[in-house]
Amino acid sequence: MALVDTKKMFEMAYKNGYAIGAFNVNNMEITQGIMGAIAEEKAPLILQISKGARDYADMEWLMSMIKTAVKQNPDIPIAVHLDHGDKLETCERFLNEGGTSVMIDGSHLPYEENLALTKAVVDMAHAKGAPVEAELGQLGGIEEDVVGVEDVSAHLTDPNQAVDFVKRTGCDSLACAIGTSHGAYKFKTEPKLALDILEKVAAKLPGFPLVMHGSSSVLKEFKDLINKYGGSMPDAMGVPESAITEAAKLAVCKVNIDTDLRMALTAKIREVFYKKPAEFDPRKYLGPGREAIKAMVKHKLQVLGCAGKAAECM
Ligand code: G3H
Ligand code: 13P
Ligand code: ZN
Repeated sequence: MALVDTKKMFEMAYKNGYAIGAFNVNNMEITQGIMGAIAEEKAPLILQISKGARDYADMEWLMSMIKTAVKQNPDIPIAVHLDHGDKLETCERFLNEGGTSVMIDGSHLPYEENLALTKAVVDMAHAKGAPVEAELGQLGGIEEDVVGVEDVSAHLTDPNQAVDFVKRTGCDSLACAIGTSHGAYKFKTEPKLALDILEKVAAKLPGFPLVMHGSSSVLKEFKDLINKYGGSMPDAMGVPESAITEAAKLAVCKVNIDTDLRMALTAKIREVFYKKPAEFDPRKYLGPGREAIKAMVKHKLQVLGCAGKAAECM
C-alpha cells in the first residue's frame, strides 16, 4: 500500500473511539523504533515532520526512510504529515515533496488572520486532494520553531469560535488548546486539562476530528534514568495517560507525541555513557535508544486504543 492521507484513519478513529498516534520523526533510529512497534501492533500511523526536522535531516532523506517503511509494511496505512506549518508556501512545498497531509498553524495570529491563512491553505491542499489540520487557541512550551504562550489557561479554544472557524475555513481537523504545552514541562503542579472543551466542540461539530498537541506523558521511567545518569530534568511533567485515553474516546482522532520519543532516546544514551564511559560505537548507544522507543510506542498504541486497527483504516 502506498502512503495514505488521514481521512480514512480519522473516520474510523472517530467512529470506533480511538486515536491515531502522530509521532515526530527526525532520524533513522526514531523512525525505526516507531516502525518496530507499529509493525508488531498493526496500528495505523501518522509520521509527522516539523520545520526543525526538515532543517536537521532534510525532507528528501526523511521521505526516503518513510518510503522504505511503507515498502516493508504493506499492511499498515502510513500518513506523512507536516507538523506546525507556518506558511502557505511551506504547506504547498511539503505536499509537492511527497507529504500527504498538512497542518497550518496560525494560532498565534489574530482570529481573522488565522482564518484567512487557514482558508488559503485549505484551498491549495484540497485542490491536491490533501487534508488540512488547523489550530485555534494556543499551547504553551517551546520547541525549536514552535513558541508557545506563558499562561495556557488564558488561551484555551473557544468552542463557539471553533464552529465558526471550521465552517468558514473548511479545514479537515482542528487542534484545540485544552491546557497542554509542547516539551517536557507542561505543568508546574497538578496536571489540569480542559476536556470539557473537547466535549463542547464535539457536541457542536458532530463527526469532526479533533487533534491534541503537546500530548507526551513524560514517562517516569525515562525521567528517572535521565536524572540518574547525569541529566537534569527534575521538574519535567507531562499529560496523564488516562486523560489521553479519555480524549481518544471523545472526538480526538490524532494525538501528537514527540517529547516522549526524545526522552526515551536520551535516557538510554545517557545510561550507556554513564555505565560504559569507554563506549564509542554509536550502535551501542543508539541501538538501546531505538529499542526503548519501540517499547514506549507499543505502550502508547494501547493508551490510544489504535493497536490492531491498521486493516480497518486501509
Ligand atoms: O510541536 C513541536 C514538535 O515537538 C516539533 O518540535 O520544532 O523542535 O522539531 P521541533
Ligand atoms: P510533545 O512535546 O508533548 O511531545 O508534543 C508534540 C507536538 O505537539 C508536536 O506537534
Ligand atoms: Zn504541536
